[in-house]
Amino acid sequence: MGEFTLGNLPGTRDLLPEDTALWQSIESAARDVFGRYGFAEIRTPIIEPTELFARGIGADTDIVGKEMYTFRDQSGRSVTLRPEGTASVVRAYIQGAMHREGGVRKLYYHGPMFRHEKKQKGRWRQFYQVGAEAIGSEHPAVDAEIIEMALGLLDALGVKARLCVNSVGCRDCRPRYVELLRAELQKSPGGLCEDCRRRAETNPLRVLDCKVEGCQPLVAALPAITDHLCAGCAGHFAQLRAHLDDAGIAYEVAPRLVRGLDYYVRTAFEVVSGDLGSQNALAGGGRYDGLSEVLGGPAAPAIGFAIGLDRLAMILGESRGDADRRGPELFLAWMGDAAFVKALEIARHLRRRGRRCHVDFGEGRLKGQLRLAGKLGARHVLIIGEDELARGRYSIKRFADSRQWEVTMEELEAYLETT
Ligand code: HAM
Repeated sequence: MGEFTLGNLPGTRDLLPEDTALWQSIESAARDVFGRYGFAEIRTPIIEPTELFARGIGADTDIVGKEMYTFRDQSGRSVTLRPEGTASVVRAYIQGAMHREGGVRKLYYHGPMFRHEKKQKGRWRQFYQVGAEAIGSEHPAVDAEIIEMALGLLDALGVKARLCVNSVGCRDCRPRYVELLRAELQKSPGGLCEDCRRRAETNPLRVLDCKVEGCQPLVAALPAITDHLCAGCAGHFAQLRAHLDDAGIAYEVAPRLVRGLDYYVRTAFEVVSGDLGSQNALAGGGRYDGLSEVLGGPAAPAIGFAIGLDRLAMILGESRGDADRRGPELFLAWMGDAAFVKALEIARHLRRRGRRCHVDFGEGRLKGQLRLAGKLGARHVLIIGEDELARGRYSIKRFADSRQWEVTMEELEAYLETT
């Protein structure tokens, strides 16, 4: 066996108990806000056949072209760790014949996604998303409602962010626009970075998204897609904006906003935050009418979004500290073997009644136990020594005001009910 160096893979990390409290509060806010809009949770596998993403997201995208974690399993099948959630949800929608239920099917999910991206602040190789998909309608009011819901979650968490919307056209009008872009780009290939020279051939839309300084003058001079939409897409976009106005949602139209996945048609949007640095997209989404058919399913126009939880936690973590951490309600400090057994018994009894209790398994020095109780953020400490054991009365101390008094087991239970 070769040498082994202990360590997690680059771009991955452990979320420790001091982090997960915040993550849980975000997830429960999502469940609450999304539930109000009629969304129910779906859990799909983390591994999927590679073909699902190659077809769904598009072979020319960065995600499929260079970022997927793909391997062959024992049966020789090509398997990929999901780089996003939409393709899987649509696969489950088709397999579950959910279109038969009629109406709009509203599904949300949260969990890890995997992309082998260059490491950068706010960019991970295993990252987490909470996302939602509304499948079964092309009405622009659905687009407005799902945008309202995404912003509603951020608002519930106290996050200030900016909404950018665009229309990326459809299978009728976009190819014409892409040809126009290609022709423009061919006029001055010299002014473009190497990536963009390649993109000008393979996927000219992606040039609009280039962050390289040198490309910016050229990109700014390119025609805007919003000036080249067909009547259907222009009308859809105008209605979306009217619905957003009705809902009192502020937005800016960003004609250069293109997304890194090929399934989008018509509506595309991003929510960006000034607190994030260069990776400033907190959420992204859009409409993907046609994805179901690409995957072999029935016509199922749809729209969705995903919020990056790592980025959201980064913003919230700075403002919240560890206020959400829930320490034990009762720390049971013990001295001597008999007291240890009693402490375990009391803790077991109280936990069955829903109380959060902690018993330390160390050597039983009182001072050390009290220090630990403080570190864990315990609200009370119960002291059990030989004396207390013999009398059936224990000394309890409340940390908030340092008050100390004696209780029997019944009094303790009754007191904890009142806290
Ligand atoms: P996306 O824009 O690729 O869209 O990802 C959505 C969000 O996930 C981003 O705005 C960002 O906050 C976060 N994110 C993406 N990559 C990383 C990374 N490497 N590290 C940290 N955070 C990241 C989608 O995934 C689509 N499936 C969204 C969607 C749903 N469209 C329709 N329905």
